[in-house]
Amino acid sequence: MTEDPFAGRTAVITGAASGIGAALAAELGARGMSLVLADIDEIGVRRMAAEMRDRKVHALGVGVDVSDPNSVAALAEASYTEFGSVELLCNNAGVLLLGTVAESSLGDWRWLSSVNVEGTLNCLHAFLPQMRRASGWRYVMNTSSTHAFLPDTSRSALYSATKHAVLGLTLGLRTELAADGIGVTLLCPGQAATRILDSQRNRPQSYGRRAGEPFGTGVIPMSIEPAEVARIAVEGIRRESPVVFALPEDTRATFRSQVESMWRLADDALGEHLETRAAAVD
Ligand SMILES: NC(=O)c1ccc[n+]([C@@H]2O[C@H](COP(=O)([O-])OP(=O)(O)OC[C@H]3O[C@@H](n4cnc5c(N)ncnc54)[C@H](O)[C@@H]3O)[C@@H](O)[C@H]2O)c1
Repeated sequence: MTEDPFAGRTAVITGAASGIGAALAAELGARGMSLVLADIDEIGVRRMAAEMRDRKVHALGVGVDVSDPNSVAALAEASYTEFGSVELLCNNAGVLLLGTVAESSLGDWRWLSSVNVEGTLNCLHAFLPQMRRASGWRYVMNTSSTHAFLPDTSRSALYSATKHAVLGLTLGLRTELAADGIGVTLLCPGQAATRILDSQRNRPQSYGRRAGEPFGTGVIPMSIEPAEVARIAVEGIRRESPVVFALPEDTRATFRSQVESMWRLADDALGEHLETRAAAVD
């Protein structure tokens, strides 16, 4: 598709109170979409929706915890009650925690995976039945990360594991939903200037809070603006790209060589495996 499919349709964006989600809201609102803005930060997302309405965008702000299926079901109900249909689902809410595997707790893992993986799945389960029954242009975009393609994820292995899960989920989903005419894109940002390094602000006490984060803002240079990530992402949806990367310009060449070395790991291992098999046959 080359024409702009957005105007007059409705998007649901999770994690819309901050960073990339808020920027997606601004970009899609400017392109004429009605918006359901959802976030665990209910005050923030209601404020964001009010800002959108000031710009004459039809927008609803809804508090949601994506890790809770009941909360997500209520989000779907509120969305369909307000707008009658949902054409674009952006599963964007996510949290980050840095630290080694050895020093991480089960609570760390459960929190990360409950938001990043189960949160994505909960939203798919809540919205897909009605989206699949509808007709016309419909789309899902899941936010993964450049971390799903890096050969060295030390100090971010838990987070990377969740983003690998989103990669697997999304590629499979793309094939599955093709039969229904629903497009799917995987968004992989990197080093975007958001509040992701301060993710623990939203960590429920039930997962156990870390005594002190082993990192602070500024540890990783975050130099691509969320608005630029959103612009690249929305263009990827328009072009129906399977995967979209959005990272700072000065890091793209390094990232490319890191991805190449990731593939070399597999290629070398596969070559060795084939040689062993050939030797066994001889
Ligand atoms: N910033 C980056 O460099 C970067 C890189 C790769 C991937 N990402 C991904 O982009 C997405 C957006 O992150 P961001 O960088 O804008 O960070 P951010 O912290 O600015 O925004 C994340 C939003 O998700 C919300 N959220 C957290 N837990 C939630 C929950 N349980 N239910 C609903 N909402 C919840 C937060 O309140 C926040 O508004 C995430 O999936 C993140 O993993 C970001």
